[in-house]
Amino acid sequence: MSHWPFIAFHRHGQQLLIFILRMERFFRLLGNENVVVAGAVLASTGYFAWQWWAEQRQQRLERQQREELERRMHVDFKTTWRRDELKAYDGRDPRKPILLAVKGRVYNVWRGREFYGPGQAYSIFAGTDATRLLAKELLEPESPEEAAKPLSGAQAEQLQAWIDQFDWKYTDVGTLAEPRSEQWREE
Ligand code: HEM
Repeated sequence: MSHWPFIAFHRHGQQLLIFILRMERFFRLLGNENVVVAGAVLASTGYFAWQWWAEQRQQRLERQQREELERRMHVDFKTTWRRDELKAYDGRDPRKPILLAVKGRVYNVWRGREFYGPGQAYSIFAGTDATRLLAKELLEPESPEEAAKPLSGAQAEQLQAWIDQFDWKYTDVGTLAEPRSEQWREE
């Protein structure tokens, strides 16, 4: 601010009045500015607090939904799975997980529902003993003649690669009660 109001203060009453008016205007402006700043601080704090709260609420909701889904998709481990039992877990019932068997072991693959769910690329494996199709990298059933043939060494290796992946990625929920060894016998 310029210094002329101070000089005016000593010299002329009229100028003093002008000075007071100017200062009043200045302080009013300053006051308004403070209000604006305080308002801006309050508004932005409020906005960020609201955003944080909304984010926390969203995260809590998602966590609850995830936990609820995990609870529903849980299957107890057992060593008595039958093949016909697995059929109920082919992904068509959204309340149930998706199971598949590989070389006598049963995996809960519900987390891979985008692979094994109904209409998905690998739904053929869902609720079945997928051993041979995985070993032979087939996406359609074998003919009875083909199914009667033992797996080659390369196919057995391929199978093991799938097993390694499933062990790493999915939950092992038990074993088939009667693994038909001819299903994955090797040459
Ligand atoms: C053109 C041929 C194929 C392509 C381009 C292809 C591609 C893919 C891709 C991109 C994924 C996702 C990988 C991931 O995100 O982890 C996948 C997963 C998978 N593929 Fe294929 N695939 C083909 C053929 C096959 C065949 C013939 C089989 C038969 C066994 C097969 C079995 C699978 C299985 C079981 C999974 C899911 C594995 C899991 O649960 O993580 N794929 N494939």
